[in-house]
Amino acid sequence: MRHAGSNARLLEPQPEVADEFALSVVEGLSRPRKALSCRFFYDARGSDLFEQITRLPEYYPTRAEAQILSAYADEMMAEIARDSVLVEFGSGSSLKTETLLARAPDGIAYVPIDVSESALASAQRRLEARFPNIAVRPLVGDFSLPIEVPPDLSGRPRTGFFPGSTIGNLTPPDAVELLRTFKSTLPRGSRLIIGIDLKKDARKLVLAYNDAAGVTAAFNLNLLVRINRELGSAIDVASFRHEAIYEPREGRIEMHLVSTIEQEISIAGHRIHFEANERIHTENSYKYSIAQFQELALSANWTPAHVWIDDEGQFSVHELISG
Ligand code: AVJ
Repeated sequence: MRHAGSNARLLEPQPEVADEFALSVVEGLSRPRKALSCRFFYDARGSDLFEQITRLPEYYPTRAEAQILSAYADEMMAEIARDSVLVEFGSGSSLKTETLLARAPDGIAYVPIDVSESALASAQRRLEARFPNIAVRPLVGDFSLPIEVPPDLSGRPRTGFFPGSTIGNLTPPDAVELLRTFKSTLPRGSRLIIGIDLKKDARKLVLAYNDAAGVTAAFNLNLLVRINRELGSAIDVASFRHEAIYEPREGRIEMHLVSTIEQEISIAGHRIHFEANERIHTENSYKYSIAQFQELALSANWTPAHVWIDDEGQFSVHELISG
């Protein structure tokens, strides 16, 4: 499998990877307002828990987006040329993409980009069996870095796909920067189909991140389990609790881990003190109105085209044209 040029990852787990985790964790927990990066959620257990989240009754985004894709995939794919390349940023299992590929003309190429080589390999096997006329050309890499598509596909028209409201993890300025970075892969005239969760009743939002079965709590607390396992710490995970709040001023859900007691923990030789009720900020999930997201896209020099929403107006899928 091909590794994306500038961001190639080696096959074997590398010491730098663990070091990067340790450095980032210690740096984040040394700040006056403690924080951990949400990119560390997705170890094997975290990926499995996220998969479970997508099936929770309270977590509406995955279902709403799936409904939009199946209702409007024909429209989304109507203008796609036979020689097009569909590039997906953070493709994971590529399950949602099947809805689009089923409506795509024979002859297109599909370039899924993901950090997980195993997820790419199993998606490739499945897609090649179902769509023998679509060339599946996976790239291992971090989609937030500039990515070069395989040279034999260059010169063909491109459509990007970035579902799941993943961009909601970024602050608006960082989201603008990512949309600009995508332009190195999706030059002028390319299209981007991107999923964006919509602003709605705060109670409904909070429930989606604080489900009754406690799966999101387990997903959040798994960060501490991962620190214990990978960095040899002995954090008492039961002394922390999951918290999800909606910040209306920022327009975002925030997830936190709250230390229920005053305590000191030790990570990679660093001692970190917690006051009782002190929080670690672990994730943002921004919600937009359609107009707000279109404005953000415009400021990254993407021109808004179609917008599709689900029957209940919970989620949106935008078509943007690279300017
Ligand atoms: C994968 C970033 C879209 O923000 O809704 C779900 C992650 N976190 N429940 C989201 C998440 C807690 C999810 N994204």
